[in-house]
Amino acid sequence: MASGTGSLLESLLRRSDAPDAAYRVAAIVVDRDCRAADISRESGIQLIDCRVAAYPDRAAWDADLAARVGAAEPEWVVTAGFMKILGPAFLSRFGGRVVNSHPALLPSFPGAHGVADALAHGVKVTGATVHLVDDGVDTGPILAQEVVAIRVDDTEDSLHERIKSVERILLADVVTDLVTKGVVIDGRKAIIP
Ligand code: GAR
Repeated sequence: MASGTGSLLESLLRRSDAPDAAYRVAAIVVDRDCRAADISRESGIQLIDCRVAAYPDRAAWDADLAARVGAAEPEWVVTAGFMKILGPAFLSRFGGRVVNSHPALLPSFPGAHGVADALAHGVKVTGATVHLVDDGVDTGPILAQEVVAIRVDDTEDSLHERIKSVERILLADVVTDLVTKGVVIDGRKAIIP
């Protein structure tokens, strides 16, 4: 599921093209015109284009999104720069099987502006977090994290680009681990055995 430039999606797809791939991408979900929709057309992978504006309200969007994604029968759902909060219908269907990549070291700097917020706060390190999605905003159990140092001359763009190069590898690694090994949840802790 993606809304942006689709570079995390491309990384997931590259990994799924490898001869020893552990997973394949069953469908690509977008909520707007974006690069991920082009990637779907180029790769021949089914596109699910589901836009809030096409529905009377958010709940109707959420319910139809759950039904359409469900029809693709995914084992795991990955939000890779999907800039919408998933609602109760979606999470009750896929809860515990939705993975998100966030461009900060959670629980610091959740939300849509994780990179800018870290920079504005003046922290010296930030990074990438891959976590399970629950009904909060970037609050679910953490699967993996990696640190990225902030440079004095960093802009939001330069920092985000360095974080994304970490996210591309981390997210594909975690998805591979999840499909091959699973995950055990113990309270707040997610353990990949
Ligand atoms: C990534 O940095 C991802 O963590 C972020 O959007 C970027 C997508 O990059 N997601 C969020 O901020 C969600 N809160 P991409 O479009 O190049 O794949």
